[in-house]
Amino acid sequence: MISKETIQQIQSRIDIVDIISTFVKLKKRGTNYLGNCPFHNEKSPSFTVSPSKEIYKCFGCGKSGNSIGFVMDHEKYSYVEALRWLATKYNVDIEETETSPEFKILQQASESLFIINHFARDYFSNTLFESEEGTDIAMSYLKSRGFNEEIIKKFQLGYNPQARDGFTQTAIAAQYNQELLVKTGLVANREDRLSDNYRGRIIFPIHNQSGKVLGFGARVIKSNDKAPKYINTPETEIYVKSKVLYGAYFAKSAIDKTNECMLVEGYTDVVSLHQAGIENVVASGGTSLTIEQLRLVKKYTKNLTIIYDGDGAGIKAALRGLDLAVEEGLDVKLVLIPDNEDPDSYVHKIGKEAFIEFVKNEKKDFILFQLEIALMDAKGDSAKKSVVVNQIAETISKINKSEDFTKRQDYIRNVSEILKIEEAGFNALVNNIIRNRISKEETKSNGINAPEVEPEVLSDFLNNVDDLLNKDERQEQALVRSLIEFGQKFWDENTTVANYIISVLDELEINQMIENKLLITIIEEYRKANNEGASPNAKFFLYHNDETIKNMVIKLMEEETEISPNWKYYYQGFIATREDLYKEEVSSTLNYLQLRKIKKLITENQVELEKTNDPEQQFVCIQIHQMLKKMEKEITHQTGMVIYK
Ligand code: UTP
Ligand code: MN
Repeated sequence: MISKETIQQIQSRIDIVDIISTFVKLKKRGTNYLGNCPFHNEKSPSFTVSPSKEIYKCFGCGKSGNSIGFVMDHEKYSYVEALRWLATKYNVDIEETETSPEFKILQQASESLFIINHFARDYFSNTLFESEEGTDIAMSYLKSRGFNEEIIKKFQLGYNPQARDGFTQTAIAAQYNQELLVKTGLVANREDRLSDNYRGRIIFPIHNQSGKVLGFGARVIKSNDKAPKYINTPETEIYVKSKVLYGAYFAKSAIDKTNECMLVEGYTDVVSLHQAGIENVVASGGTSLTIEQLRLVKKYTKNLTIIYDGDGAGIKAALRGLDLAVEEGLDVKLVLIPDNEDPDSYVHKIGKEAFIEFVKNEKKDFILFQLEIALMDAKGDSAKKSVVVNQIAETISKINKSEDFTKRQDYIRNVSEILKIEEAGFNALVNNIIRNRISKEETKSNGINAPEVEPEVLSDFLNNVDDLLNKDERQEQALVRSLIEFGQKFWDENTTVANYIISVLDELEINQMIENKLLITIIEEYRKANNEGASPNAKFFLYHNDETIKNMVIKLMEEETEISPNWKYYYQGFIATREDLYKEEVSSTLNYLQLRKIKKLITENQVELEKTNDPEQQFVCIQIHQMLKKMEKEITHQTGMVIYK
C-alpha cells in the first residue's frame, strides 16, 4: 500500500487544471476553466474546472470529482494506479507500506509491461545509434528515406538487430520475467526457445496520451515476400489497438492549435509530416477507424481530415466506417494523394508549404465525396442510382444530434440537387431511416427480441389487409379524426397537417377516397373554416348546429383506436402514442385509403378486361393492371402503415 505520507505529498502538489489539461483542451472563463466533457459527447463545452475548489463538474452529464477521481475515471485506473500516475507526474517518491502478494501481482501486471517496453525502447534506440549494425543498416536506411536524426530521436525510433536473440538475452540478463517478455510480443517462444520477434526490423514505439510506450510497430528493412512488412504488438492489458492512434502523443498540442486532426495510414507518414513541420497528424495503422479512436480525436477537435492514397484500396479504407465519424458529430474531410504516392513520399516530393496548400485545396466533404464516387460507379444506371440514393440517405441519417439539424438539412438540399431528385422526398427517406432505427433501438432496449418476419406471417398479413379493406370504414374515420385532432400541427416547414391532408384528398379525388358522405361533409366544413383562418378543432365541431355532424365528431373523438395485432407483429416494437406519431398516423391512414382506392380500380379493371374482346383494349387493361399492382405493392410495403381494426 502507498503510505499516508506519500498520498499527502501527492495531494499537496497536484494542480487540477494541469492534470485535466493533459487530457482535455481547457479555456479560461473567469475564475474557472471550461472545455468539452471527455465523458460524454458534446458540441458546446459544459465541462467546468474550478482551481479554487479543486473540483471538476460537467453540467451536461453530471460527472464531477477531484483530481484523483478524474484520473481514475479518465484513464480507467484504480485509486492506487491513479496515485502512481500522479506521483510520476509530480516526481513524488512512493513510500510503500506492506501489501498482500496477490494485490502486488495484480497491480504490477500492467506496470511491468510498461517497464519492459521502456527497457526495450531504450535498447532499440541504443542499437540504432550506437551499434555498427544499427548505423550501417538501419540508420542508413532511415536516412535514405529522408528522416533526420532529430525526428528519429523525437519519435524514439530504434532497431532490433538480426541476431536470433540479441534483445532477448539482454532482457533476461537484466532479470526481466520471461513470460512477460513473451506477453509483450517482443520475444517469441518457439519450441521452447526464446528469440527476438522483430529481428532485423526498424522499431516504431507506440505511445499513449502521456508518452508511455504501449507497444511497437516493427518494419522490415529489406522487403521480402514471405515476411509481413510490419509486425505489431499483440493485444495486451496496455495495448488495445482499437483505442490507439499512432502519434497522438506528439500531435496533441498541434491539433489544439490548428483545431484540425489529420489522419494518415502509416507510421512513416506521421513521422515524415512531423519532420516537415506538420504536426497535427495521427495514423490509424491502415485499418478502418474505430469508435474509440474517433472519440479520441473528438477530445481535441471536431475537424477530421483524412489523407489517404488515391488508389482504390485507399479510397475504400477511407470510406469504411466513416458513418461512425458522422454519427459522432465530427466534420470529416477527405484528401486523396495522387500518383501512387503516400503522404510520406508526397511531402518529401513537394515540401511543407505545397503540401499544406494541397490539403487545403483538395479537401472534400466526406459525404459529398462518397456520393461522387458512387455516382461515377453507377454511371447513369437507374437501378444503381437508387442504391446510391439509399446509401447516402443512410449516411445522412447518421447526422442525428439535435444540434446538427441544420447541417443535416444542408446535406439533404445539396444531395438532392446533385442527384436531381426532389428534396421533400429525399428528406422523407432520411427521416424514415431515422425513425426505423429509433424504433429498432427502442425494441432492443426494451429487451424484446425482434423476430424476423416469417413469409407466412407476411402473407397472412396481406390477406388480412384484403379483408379489412373490404369491410370497414374505420380508416375513413381515423383520417377525419387525425384531421380534427392534429390538423393545426405542422406537417413540414411550409404546411399544416390539415393543408396536407386536404391537398392529397383533392389530388386523389375525395369522393373516391372517402365513401361516407357525412365524413366528407365534415371534411368540407373543416376546409371552409380552415380557409377562413379559424383553426378548427374538436370544440369547433362540438358546438356545431348540425346534430349529425356534432354526434359523429363526438363518436370519433371517443373512439379508442386499436392497432391490429398482425400489424404489431409485423412492425415489432413500433408502438408509440398517437400524439408522438401523428405524422405516421396521417400518412398511414392516407396510404390505406389510397390502397383501397387502388384495389377498387384493380377490380373494376378486371371486370373491364373480362368484358372486352378487343386485343388492343385487353392490352391496355393488362398494362393498367400491372401498374396498379406495382402501386399496391409499394404502398403495402411502406412502413408505418397502421391498420385499425
Ligand atoms: P503501408 O503499407 O502504407 O506502410 O501501411 P507505410 O506505413 O507507408 O510504410 P512504408 O512507407 O512503406 O515504410 C500502412 C500502415 O498499415 C499498417 C502499419 O501501421 C502501416 O504503417 N501495416 C501495414 C501493418 O500493420 N502491417 C503490414 O504488414 C502492413
Ligand atoms: Mn509509405
